[in-house]
Amino acid sequence: MQNGIFVPEEEIKRQLAIAREVRSLIGEGKKVFVSTFGCQQNEADSERLLGLASLMGYTKAESIDDAQLIIFNTCAIREHAELKALSKAGALRKIKERDKSVITAVCGCMAEQPHRREQILKSYPYIDIIFGTDRLHTLPETVKNAILGEKHGVYISGGSHDEFGTVAEGVPSLRESSYKAWVPIMYGCNNFCSYCVVPYVRGRERSRKSKDVLAEIEGLVKSGYKDITLLGQNVNSYDGDLSFPKLLEKAAGFEGDYLLRFMTSHPKDATRELVDVMASSPKIAPHFHLPMQSGDNRILKMMNRRYTVEQYMEKAAYIREKLPDAALTSDIICGFPTETEEEFENTLKAVDAVGFDMLFAFVYSPRPGTPAAKMEQIPHEVKTARFARLSELENKRASELNRRFAGRTLKVLSDGCENGIYTGRTGHNKIITFALPEGFPEEKAKSGRFLNVRVDGVQAYTLSGTAEKEQI
Ligand code: SAH
Ligand code: SF4
Ligand code: F3S
Repeated sequence: MQNGIFVPEEEIKRQLAIAREVRSLIGEGKKVFVSTFGCQQNEADSERLLGLASLMGYTKAESIDDAQLIIFNTCAIREHAELKALSKAGALRKIKERDKSVITAVCGCMAEQPHRREQILKSYPYIDIIFGTDRLHTLPETVKNAILGEKHGVYISGGSHDEFGTVAEGVPSLRESSYKAWVPIMYGCNNFCSYCVVPYVRGRERSRKSKDVLAEIEGLVKSGYKDITLLGQNVNSYDGDLSFPKLLEKAAGFEGDYLLRFMTSHPKDATRELVDVMASSPKIAPHFHLPMQSGDNRILKMMNRRYTVEQYMEKAAYIREKLPDAALTSDIICGFPTETEEEFENTLKAVDAVGFDMLFAFVYSPRPGTPAAKMEQIPHEVKTARFARLSELENKRASELNRRFAGRTLKVLSDGCENGIYTGRTGHNKIITFALPEGFPEEKAKSGRFLNVRVDGVQAYTLSGTAEKEQI
């Protein structure tokens, strides 16, 4: 499966050459606006789109109205995400009416779905380009074609998603932050959880080579990046020439002060070895995101998650044993088809028993083409009522758990100061606001700097404190 997944180097070179051609076609002073929906993978993709656009001579626009190239990088995970993107895309009509030379594009996961593509072509005639999740690297060519007058260019891999997918190395990235970075280690998903659209829109799993991933991380560390997140839909099935725990261990081995994170680890494949690697390195953040989805075995089976509540609990217990202080977070879907009151209560019990620092709770949203969309649906108001009950429980559990930080000194990565308030993030991925004691040099608290903060206030999900004079 790993053979033939890489975009040939010559093709990347060809695209970069077209980017330079576009630069001479568009002239000076043109701007690009990328609007990103969805997960961190999409954010990482948008940074590559910006990298390519910058090679083409576009600088980043402050607002959509200033841009001559507008790209909507969309998400399809829930209907709400799609509707949001479609409604914002509707606003492009006015922009196009005002200036026909503005180029508009829709890409990302929603663009991978044939029914959405049809809808865009029919109802959004002012969208010039549609391209798929594995066609990002062809942006220069698609933009050039649009400049030369091509209407409704559609660039999708086509064919079966089993053969779908290419990994493009060597595409420049224009990162949003100078100290936090996303590093995709793999693309796609093979798990086919019955509710989820990702395997259909992102194709099969494809891993980057470990040498490429490690070289990227080393480069980031050397240029001062402090918070690096390895990305994959299920990082545990990373299939470069190393296992994921080994890759993580190596990634934590560079000289420098930085924190490594990863997302997402599927409980069925989260091994003890992974937890042991986390416990062995202070450079790996003490935060484990382990999506449970449901606390009921019948529902888990219907979801095709391939673990039981008992197995999940066993993994969570091992994390607690090895990393007693680590933050554990999770995702839960409320109102999966056929979920009974009793089954939902099992989820509440499981959530209460594990104790999550943060829970991402979602109302189940049927995704066309997935098995769960054809199952017996439960009423919307039941789903939202369950969501509210789960949120209430989680607010209580999270506040209880957050109290463990009171009075402690935590290493915090500063996000700088806005309106007189400093904010930052701890290794546990908690947002913390903090004050500087008198005489504390502001320079040492600016964004991208690590500092010690003593916690003197604890809210349900956030913390507050005061920076300590004695720095690390
Ligand atoms: N690969 C990750 C999940 C990515 S999607 C993993 O396996 O954990 C992020 C979350 O969105 C999922 O964990 C799930 O809780 C939620 N989700 C996915 N499909 C959904 C749907 N159809 N309706 C509601 N929530 C959904
Ligand atoms: Fe979706 Fe499941 Fe894959 Fe996560 S593991 S992306 S929930 S199919
Ligand atoms: Fe959305 Fe695609 Fe991510 S569907 S959650 S942007 S992988």
